Formats: sequence, C-alpha cells, structure tokens
Amino acid sequence: MKPEINHYQNIQTLSQAAADFVSKLAKECVEKRKIFTVALSGGNTPRTLYELLAQDPYVNSIPWAHTHLFWGDERYVPADHPDSNFAMASQTLVDHVPIPAQNVYRIPTEHASPEEAADYYEQTLRNLFEIFGSLTENGRLPVFDLMLLGMGKDGHTASLFPDSLVLVEQRRWVAATSVPRLNPPVRRITLTLPVINAARNVVFLVAGTEKQPILQIILENPQKARELYPVARVEPAGKLLWFLVKNI
Ligand code: 6PG
Repeated sequence: MKPEINHYQNIQTLSQAAADFVSKLAKECVEKRKIFTVALSGGNTPRTLYELLAQDPYVNSIPWAHTHLFWGDERYVPADHPDSNFAMASQTLVDHVPIPAQNVYRIPTEHASPEEAADYYEQTLRNLFEIFGSLTENGRLPVFDLMLLGMGKDGHTASLFPDSLVLVEQRRWVAATSVPRLNPPVRRITLTLPVINAARNVVFLVAGTEKQPILQIILENPQKARELYPVARVEPAGKLLWFLVKNI
C-alpha cells in the first residue's frame, strides 16, 4: 500500500494531527473488535503526542478501558531510568489516562539478560494476541492495530539499527540487540520487522533537520533506501503513514 505522507509546520501541529489519528483509530478498532492494541515508540519526538493524548478531549474520548499498550522497543535500563522508554511514556501519558494497569505491558528490564527479557516479552505477546484473536492468517505473527515509530538520524527505527543481525530475524517476535553506535550506548530489546510489518497501521513521527537527507532517499528511492536504512524495510501489510516536520 502506498505510504501517506503528511508535512507539518512544527512538532505541535504534527502531534495534534497524530492525536486525532490515534483517537479516531482507537474508536474504530474498539467498535469493530472491542480492542485497540498499540505499540508505543520511544525517543523524544512522540512526547508531545503522548502529552496531548493525556489531555482533553482525548483523555476522555479514547476508549482507554479497551486499549492495550505495548512498546516497540526498550533500552535495557531500569523502568525508572531517564533513558527508559517506559518511564518517558509513563510520565507523559500512562500515569495520566484512565487505562487499567493490567492493559499496560512494559518490556521488562529486570531480567538477568536482555535475551531473557526478550523471551519473556515474546511469550507475553504470544499469549495475549492468541487471546485477542489478533494474529495473521497463518497464526505466526501478532497483528497490532497501531505501531508508532520514530526514525533515528542513522535510519534506525525501534531498535533496528543498520547492519544489525536482528534486521534479518524472521522467526522471533522480540529480540535483544547489541549496543548500538548511537546514544544511549545500552543494549536494547525490540520488536522485529515481521511483527512491525504485520501491523494494521504503522505511523512514523519524524522531526529534525538532521533526518531530512535520509528521509529524502527513503521517499524518493525506496529500493536504495531499503539496502541502507532499517526504516525503509518497514512496509506493512496495512497502512503506512508519515507525520513529518522539516525542523523542530
Ligand atoms: C528509541 C526509539 C527510537 C527512536 C529514534 C528517534 O528507543 O530511541 O524507539 O527508534 O524512535 O531514535 O528518536 P527521536 O524521536 O528522539 O529523534
């Protein structure tokens, strides 16, 4: 499906449009299937979106009781660490909306190793998406209603970094990565490309002048971009939307 490209003047208008999209999608999904499953992105760009979703009208109109929150990736740090994606989403969103605690599925980072944590999270997903009845036809992958993603200045997304072995993972749903070249230099846990690409809706939130050169290649020469940048390998079965700001 051809990507939908949306340009905005600033992070505020981008986030407002994204909040409207998320809210509308949540209501449609709950109306159709009584559930809305979303994997949150980490990083800084989604902060404003998360803060908006925790305010009127979204805090009172999104069907939070039927919403299930996951993470697309996590840094292997304690859940209250400043680099934690869970901590960022909790401070901006989760702690401020009426979502049942049991509907929030943090990627655990207290296991003995990132590999053990990835196994645990994968089993959590397998159990839940079986119960949700939200699997691909062959039953091999979970189907998220919404995958929120960012893009790093090296073209990574989630914690799928260039030249990483995890990029070619076809069987696992969740994997542990080595230490990326980008900050913070900690090991990560990430959803794999097959899981991301099985989503009904994938939304990229991208802001920053330093990302423009890569964005231009991705949007103008996807074939070449696919060889260079993990983000270009996100080609979902469902809808792909880009919410872009040229500079923040
Ligand atoms: C993470 C994110 C990562 C992020 C990009 C962009 O854990 O860091 O999942 O993929 O989306 O690095 O980050 P910014 O939004 O901060 O530019």
